Amino acid sequence: MSNNNLFKTKIGLIAATVGSAVGLGSVWRFPSEVQTNGGAAFLIVYIACVFLLGIPVMLAEFSLGRAGRSDAVGSFRNLAPGKMWWLGGALAILTSYLILCYYMVVAGWTFEYMWESITGNLYAGIDAAADKSAMFGTKMQQYITHDTNPLIHTFIIIGINIAILLFGVQKGIERLSNIMMPLLFVILLGFCVVSLTLPKANEGLAFFLNPDFSAITPSVVIRALGQAFFSLSLGMGVLITYGSYFPRDTRLIKTSVSVSTSVIFVAVMMGVIIFPAVTSFGLQDATLNGPTLVFATLPQVFAQLPAPQLWSTLFFLLLTLAAVTSTISIAEVSIAFMQEFFKLSRKAACLVVLLPLLVFSTVCSLSLGSLSDFTVFGLTIFDLLDYTTANILLPVCSILLCVYVGWFAPKKFLKNELTNNGEFKSSTFRFIVFVIRYIAPVLITGIIVYSFL
Ligand code: PHE
Repeated sequence: MSNNNLFKTKIGLIAATVGSAVGLGSVWRFPSEVQTNGGAAFLIVYIACVFLLGIPVMLAEFSLGRAGRSDAVGSFRNLAPGKMWWLGGALAILTSYLILCYYMVVAGWTFEYMWESITGNLYAGIDAAADKSAMFGTKMQQYITHDTNPLIHTFIIIGINIAILLFGVQKGIERLSNIMMPLLFVILLGFCVVSLTLPKANEGLAFFLNPDFSAITPSVVIRALGQAFFSLSLGMGVLITYGSYFPRDTRLIKTSVSVSTSVIFVAVMMGVIIFPAVTSFGLQDATLNGPTLVFATLPQVFAQLPAPQLWSTLFFLLLTLAAVTSTISIAEVSIAFMQEFFKLSRKAACLVVLLPLLVFSTVCSLSLGSLSDFTVFGLTIFDLLDYTTANILLPVCSILLCVYVGWFAPKKFLKNELTNNGEFKSSTFRFIVFVIRYIAPVLITGIIVYSFL
């Protein structure tokens, strides 16, 4: 692998990995999970899951990628030649691609909302509307289920991905993350300040930050664990692929702690923005699930602030940045595979991976509109992809990874990776191995079983 295929700086490597992790999961899914699963109780369990389970599994992925020095399939093949373990990598690549099909569509919505905020269309007719909440709900339905508009925006996002990824790891992914991630943090901080100065900020904050421990139930724990895995980009080969771009002197444990802390920080900031805002405007009882929260409830909040268009544009820019830095990481999994396995050029690999999405993502998008009558097991294609990837494929890939790294990988492999071949000591090594061998596989199996109950 040429040096061009390694991240150039420590900061760039962290920005790219945080960029992958911080996505719609943290800015969109997290607040609605908090709302429906016991507020601060969920936050605490989520943080515990990230540190106790997420970091060890992240380290397993980083180590595999850096030692295998290849894509998700190639890394397994290099470390376990002649064995079937590469199938785990292949499953991860498939999962990541399926996720990409619908993630592009949701990223398209965020872009569309940004554009509609800039042009002012999102707020057109608001003064005349008797029921503002219904108005934003209807607008959201119209945007999402329309046959052509979401497609145009999804295609724009696919185009942006191609434009970035063609430039490769250093000049594309790393350089862009170095610009986008600081911008994202600045916008987030700006929103926190505004939200905390709203009239009923305290009430909203109390819900988010004062834990009621009796609210911790098995279902809360399982959902928090699912959220931890999704928000850290685990189980999809992304961190194996990025790990293969880490230089030899990168300290994996330090990196995983920095990445995880940043992800938690973003999630907490999102809570600090959303809960004070919705309580201040009496919207705390509105359904804060998935799309409704950011696409219907928040525009209603912005409409009550001075300069709604400005806030709305900034907010959807934030979401678009978060989404794009995640989509590029998911696409990179397949691109790296195409380059390594089929020896394609970077350009060919990018096009082979991304152009078919013009069709696949279109089907996903239409499955919410004119193809909504076509269902499998009662789910639209969009929901089917979301459900099977999050509840079955991601956990299965993570289990395979932990079982391989914990039980079958060459002896000393993990220790060498975590200590950079003995260059420094790691006091947490035993704990990490214990989690990878026993705790993670058992708990993740719990997630799968639970999702079928
Ligand atoms: N972590 C991303 C998010 O929170 C999603 C993602 C999952 C990205 C897996 C890459 C790999 O939105």
